[in-house]
Amino acid sequence: MKIAVVGIGYVGLTTGICLAAIGHSVVCIDKNLKRINQLQNNQLPFFEPGLTEQYQSALKQHNFRVTKDFSDLSEAEAVFISVGTPTEETGESKLTYLIEAVRALLPYLKNNTLLIIKSTVPPGTSQMIKTLIESSHTKLDIHLVSNPEFLREGNAIYDFFNPDRIVIGLESPYAEKKMGEIYASFIENKIPVVVTNTQTAELIKYASNAFLATKIAYINEIANVCENINGDIETLIYGMGLDHRVGNQFLRPGPGFGGSCFPKDIKALAQFAKTQGSPLKIIEAVIKSNATRKTTMIQKIEKECGGSLHGRVIGILGLTFKANTDDVRESPAIDVISELLNKNAMVKTYDPLGMYNAKTILTSNQITWCKEGYEVAKDANALVIATEWEEFKALDPKKIKQLMETPVVLDFRNLLNEQLYKISGLHYQKIGG
Ligand code: UDX
Ligand code: UDX
Repeated sequence: MKIAVVGIGYVGLTTGICLAAIGHSVVCIDKNLKRINQLQNNQLPFFEPGLTEQYQSALKQHNFRVTKDFSDLSEAEAVFISVGTPTEETGESKLTYLIEAVRALLPYLKNNTLLIIKSTVPPGTSQMIKTLIESSHTKLDIHLVSNPEFLREGNAIYDFFNPDRIVIGLESPYAEKKMGEIYASFIENKIPVVVTNTQTAELIKYASNAFLATKIAYINEIANVCENINGDIETLIYGMGLDHRVGNQFLRPGPGFGGSCFPKDIKALAQFAKTQGSPLKIIEAVIKSNATRKTTMIQKIEKECGGSLHGRVIGILGLTFKANTDDVRESPAIDVISELLNKNAMVKTYDPLGMYNAKTILTSNQITWCKEGYEVAKDANALVIATEWEEFKALDPKKIKQLMETPVVLDFRNLLNEQLYKISGLHYQKIGG
């Protein structure tokens, strides 16, 4: 099928490339011309494991191209929209870009085109877009579809090809037929497809993300209890996770959840629910809990530095919001560094993929940008594991101890081997232990 994608960020580009790799003819557009130029020069604008291979496969099939001209989308039978839906000051989801994209598209759409909203939007947005199109007095019959994504950055290719389910909100049998064509290979592989109305599909996305964020905030608070009773969070998670009703996924304690989705989506959902007269007290508590998590992390570092961070050298390993991505949006590591700088600490840091993006946010001259982990440890008063990069597990604790000013390691991801670090003479502290 001829498919267009408007907004080729982490979600839109991954979706466009993978749809092309499975045989659809895909054309993508984005208002960020730098991104378009990068792709026209065969460069991917961000890192996502496995995306290069899918991109090469799509190019080999001549199924994928990018354009700067909306008129190039006129042949599309289905248009995915995955433009940014950032958070307004009020917490509400900013739909300006979505509306701008639809208005830019409208003159070029042909009759019976599917307009498929993949961006995370408040329930009712598809209906709002439908009304907007009708009020433009177009003669066209445009089919609105909600098709939220569940792609985890760093796992997006796997998640695209192995979804637990495909969620589709629609209003017409024609749209259902066409969506069946788009996802034919998934349907053949018996992937469950949830077909409902658009507002329910939109809410499934928010409710899923909010539930996952709740699990994370929950285990982070339980980790606090473990620390007070000398309990062990890892055994607790194992003991909880064996209950199939609980499951052990999304129960990893850490410095709080970040990324471009959870923080934004739970605020948007909470704000939306409030405007609907059904406030979500639990989600409001999760928002507060995650916000205070960063303060808790700073307090841990401050305590290990004798109560003051002034002039201390703190090594931060990891800048991205999670491993296997270059994305630093809403990264707890960035928040921790910002607070350390406010408290007049000196920071040394390294991340395998996040340095470039982090430097666009952190500009202080109190930061030393290092090339690898040992350089971060050298002369540090405390070394913090902020992101669970596999390569940090290869660091030699004995060498770490020799290099540090004071041998304190705070593992905010419970990534390292606790015994090994302790027998190497390091004062090692994990989360929840
Ligand atoms: C985005 C939404 O933010 C998220 O809510 C949704 O779940 C999926 O799409 P992501 O892909 O991570 O997530 O966002 P981002 O990486 O910021 O990409 C958005 C893209 O849209 C960017 O390339 C941006 O340039 C583009 N865009 C934004 C447009 O093409 N037009 C606009 O008006 C605004
Ligand atoms: C999330 C959802 O998982 C995905 O379905 C949705 O489409 C987009 O948002 P993403 O934000 O890319 O994906 O990453 P995810 O793996 O969910 O992690 C989000 C944050 O939670 C990260 O900061 C991560 O470090 C943190 N996290 C995740 C934990 O602290 N503990 C966990 O057990 C899992």
